[in-house]
Amino acid sequence: MLSISLHGQRSIVTGGSSGIGAATAKALAAAGASVLLTYRSSAEEAEAVAKEGREAGATVHTLQVDIAKPDDCVRLFEEADRLLGGVDILVANAGVQKDGAFTDLSLKDWNKVIEVNLTGQFLCAQEAVRRFRRQGGTDASTALGKIIFNSSVHQAIPWASHANYATAKGGLKLLMQSMAQELSCEKIRVNAIAPGAIKTDINKEAWQDEEAERQLLKLIPYGRVGRPEDVAQAIVWLASDAADYVVGTTLFVDGGMML
Ligand code: BGC
Repeated sequence: MLSISLHGQRSIVTGGSSGIGAATAKALAAAGASVLLTYRSSAEEAEAVAKEGREAGATVHTLQVDIAKPDDCVRLFEEADRLLGGVDILVANAGVQKDGAFTDLSLKDWNKVIEVNLTGQFLCAQEAVRRFRRQGGTDASTALGKIIFNSSVHQAIPWASHANYATAKGGLKLLMQSMAQELSCEKIRVNAIAPGAIKTDINKEAWQDEEAERQLLKLIPYGRVGRPEDVAQAIVWLASDAADYVVGTTLFVDGGMML
């Protein structure tokens, strides 16, 4: 286990009730950060994650939001002010998949994926930057604020029958880089994490039976499917001052899938 302290830092994790978001909320709490985790519909799951975080001694709250709605993003940061006293770290994690062969892809599914995975990330990040500026720095971190986008290996690897998803992630990469270029002079650190195949609900059919997992492993030189904690630990590091000179970078956590 990585020993990094985020004591005194306040974090938001969107999509924190399951998968990588849940592991990240727990890892941030274990590192000493306070956490506000958001969920779309699963209040019970979110509360279970929060409970684990509290057992690690951290302040953890949950909030229902739809990150694709501008008003919800504003409300999220108002709640972070009220419950945590502000925010130092945004992990913009919430994301969905709506897969389909190219000519079968409905406009609805195209829009949904762009709306959550790209526009939602943009809205949250925009609000985070406004808040970082308004609240000023603290002694807990060198940076004024940190934003970590949860991207994907598919920001770089084309993905047949997932055109909406790959398009959103490709866009997210340039959103992250453009923001980092524009904002790092204010000591706002913007980076992305790019998971490969991680065992979560989003890609269950790719690993839930032996044959599917065997096929998947052909794409992963390291020889195992990832765990949410693999990504969460990397996010904790990226959020910490140990990564203070890491700006505008995508950290691939993929067991070598990019290779
Ligand atoms: C997707 C997963 C997929 C992985 C590797 C992720 O971004 O959400 O469904 O298994 O990329 O292809």
